[in-house]
Amino acid sequence: MTSDLSAARIEGALRGRWGRPLRFFEEVASTNSEALEWAEGGAPEGAAVVADHQSAGRGRLGRTWLSEPGAILPLSVVLRPRLPPDRFGVLSAAAGVATAEAIAEVSGLSCRLKWPNDVTISGRKVAGILLESRMGTGGAPVVVCGIGINVRWTKLPEELGGRATSLALEGSKVDRAALTGSLLLALEKACGRLDDESGSAEIIERATALSEVLGQAVEARVGGVLVSGVALSLTEAGGLVLDTAEGRRVLDAGEIEKLRPA
Ligand code: BTN
Repeated sequence: MTSDLSAARIEGALRGRWGRPLRFFEEVASTNSEALEWAEGGAPEGAAVVADHQSAGRGRLGRTWLSEPGAILPLSVVLRPRLPPDRFGVLSAAAGVATAEAIAEVSGLSCRLKWPNDVTISGRKVAGILLESRMGTGGAPVVVCGIGINVRWTKLPEELGGRATSLALEGSKVDRAALTGSLLLALEKACGRLDDESGSAEIIERATALSEVLGQAVEARVGGVLVSGVALSLTEAGGLVLDTAEGRRVLDAGEIEKLRPA
């Protein structure tokens, strides 16, 4: 596969402030690991790490995020949230909304969100989001938002068992540099909305409108225990409200191991 990604091509596609400074790698173990280290060393909000290929990409809960050279867009951006840590779940909603909207803008494909942090097309996962935080020097947490988008896979790994898709498989040939530019602008705008209450509420409204989970009967695994109920709404902190046989229960994005239709 010839590469459509380079530092120069990404810099030419940037449309906002985020993405500067930029670190681009032809190959790296994980863009999230690079960005976390950079953030701890003082990288500003919006600093981005992009790679043509990740050799050890990480998914949620210690899973591996599969890739082959040129097939996905792995991107990590440094966030400096001005939010209390118990509201970090709203970052996941903002990243989901931004990813779904950027993909739609560049590919013309319409995406939904599967809470807490999958972006789907026709029920199959096209992108995943991994937010990781560490305590920075000075006591303020540093947060990295890592996004992996299945862009150019034409045959997905069998391990994914038909649960995933790619923009190419959905019929859209997307330039990864253009997608990077749109994604960073969408993230900058969505995360910028979180600074005030009305902006945060608007992000939750957009995540609600894109959700494929709300209104559905679901089964969630939390700390090894199964919880089932109907997904009712998202809280202002990005949690999922479930109507269970024992009453209402709010699931936190960080605690969820698996969510599937009941
Ligand atoms: C998931 O769905 O489990 C989250 C996947 C997140 C993958 C991205 S790819 C860019 C960034 N670097 C990583 O190592 N992981 C995230």
